[in-house]
Amino acid sequence: MQRPVFAANWKMNHGPSDARAFMRSFLAHFARRTDRQVIFFPPAVTLTTVLEMIKERQDILVGVQNIHWEDKGAFTGELSAGMARDAGATVALVGHSERRNIFGETDEQTGLKVAAAVRAGLTPMLCVGETLEEREQGRTEQVVLRQLRAGIANIDPHHVATTLVAYEPVWAIGTGRTATPDDAGVIHVLIRQELVGLLGERGNAIPICYGGSANRGNASALLAAPEVDGLLVGGASLDAEGWSSIVRT
Ligand code: PGA
Repeated sequence: MQRPVFAANWKMNHGPSDARAFMRSFLAHFARRTDRQVIFFPPAVTLTTVLEMIKERQDILVGVQNIHWEDKGAFTGELSAGMARDAGATVALVGHSERRNIFGETDEQTGLKVAAAVRAGLTPMLCVGETLEEREQGRTEQVVLRQLRAGIANIDPHHVATTLVAYEPVWAIGTGRTATPDDAGVIHVLIRQELVGLLGERGNAIPICYGGSANRGNASALLAAPEVDGLLVGGASLDAEGWSSIVRT
């Protein structure tokens, strides 16, 4: 495995004041190290605050939680990949299940957003994952592969190497119900096979993170599962001390 990725998805938490206090504490607990990649996805209004706080820490990346697929225009409330890049983001979450399930984002839009991210020089982190209903209907593999294929459909295979994927079973997000390392491993292996099938050797270079109630108690078992290259963490990334212990896993 390449060096593990530890990504914090703050969702709609931590405005600039909270983020300043968080980062002060986190940086005190987490000295620079090159054997892991730490990424923060703060709310858009907090992006520059986090970037300021990590000025001296090129080992940490900062990204946005969502982008629009167009480069600019009359899209009130939206943020383009180019603007995010201009503000200093280097990564963009795309297709998070909350975007899909609460805000109605489609597979097609997800594919357009991944392409927009790549166009702007951002590394997309494409999220895929089945709902509880889809899982109970035995459709997990079908749903995950459909989302994966649609997500990377519009990018040149040469750019895919700079993409990240996150498997996040929706039933495990924010519920305290984590996929077991075995459950996660089965889907991660499936995703890896599909990536290699679609992209050849390049598919092996794409880190596949697990997300869904990951925390300091289960982080190391999840990271030991096959093809789990990192973690995308929501709730357990909101506390600086807890998060710093997860990234030290
Ligand atoms: P959770 O969220 O860790 O709170 O389950 C993960 C995510 O939604 O990215």
